[in-house]
Amino acid sequence: MSKIYKIAVIPGDGTGPEVISEGIKVLTTVSASCDFNLNFTHYNLGGEHYQKTGEILPESVLESLSESDAIYLGAIGHPDVKPGILEKGILLKLRFYFDQFINLRPIKLYEGVNTPIKDKSPEDIDFVVVRENTEGLYCGAGGFLKRGTSDEVAIQESINTRKGVERCIRYAFRYCQKRNKAKKLTLCGKTNVLTFAFDLWERAFNEVAQEYPDIETDYAHIDATCMWMVKNPEWFDVIVTDNMFGDIITDLAAMIQGGMGIAAGANINPDGVSMFEPIGGSAPKYTGKQVVNPIAAISAAQIMLETIGEQKAAAFVEEGITKVLRDDLKDVAAGKMGYTTKEVGDLVADYIAKSTSR
Ligand code: IPM
Ligand code: MN
Repeated sequence: MSKIYKIAVIPGDGTGPEVISEGIKVLTTVSASCDFNLNFTHYNLGGEHYQKTGEILPESVLESLSESDAIYLGAIGHPDVKPGILEKGILLKLRFYFDQFINLRPIKLYEGVNTPIKDKSPEDIDFVVVRENTEGLYCGAGGFLKRGTSDEVAIQESINTRKGVERCIRYAFRYCQKRNKAKKLTLCGKTNVLTFAFDLWERAFNEVAQEYPDIETDYAHIDATCMWMVKNPEWFDVIVTDNMFGDIITDLAAMIQGGMGIAAGANINPDGVSMFEPIGGSAPKYTGKQVVNPIAAISAAQIMLETIGEQKAAAFVEEGITKVLRDDLKDVAAGKMGYTTKEVGDLVADYIAKSTSR
């Protein structure tokens, strides 16, 4: 009997549902030809749902999500909901609840996609950011004193535990080894100013490095990392960094790979339930217009297949993405693709159906 995976789907807000539909289309096509089944269960969460019901992410939903093999998320964010409520209440809550301590962001300039970086080609832009995903400035430690008065104090603390830092670094070394490209891991930090947090990071990094003599190690400050990413992106193979720095450099990295239309990410707990998402957000102004690029969502589905262990299917999806970006789309940006969202999903799915039946 072929294997069955339970996939929890949270289409979410804005253009989330339309891109997730295309991802599901591609997943369904590829699973049929690779002899496994995907069982999708949809969950209605997000800004719309919150405004209608006042409900953000009930415990019963969390329990139900725990039963799944993976979570496939569209986008969370609504123009009429105060910033922070949905981000913290849904996205961060899911990352923390499922202890998805790795945020994985592959950065790859595909053939046929324009990068804003002059004179750089697909050979130059191909690296992965491993971002710590449950600690640092994101853990919500801190508070106010005398809020709203002229004596106000606001404290937001970065928490870095040896355990949290080390497991992230260890994952990055292993990932770099498995990826088997330049075999170079760069720690991105700020050891010249954040002399507590990044002292811990640096010591853990150097200690774990001893176990991986085949991996070349490197260090770059966060500001310099931004600079090199624009000037010499070919220097990077795998970058490991903390939550906040990782958040910042992955948006920069998404731009040099061509934009939000193709940027995908994964929130990974190697021993638990992981979550896969296009990182472009809900893009409210494009909602329902069928103009946004579903490749980011399809790419997130590809990382999902890799993570659950369906490597062959993942490779077919990657081939489909590569082909469609190279030969079909006029541009990757919303409204400029020369196709609708649905048509782009069809192009990838049709390519996969044809190549798997050969
Ligand atoms: C991301 C996003 C989130 C983050 C927001 C929406 C909370 O920017 O996944 O990078 O900051 O982690
Ligand atoms: Mn971000």
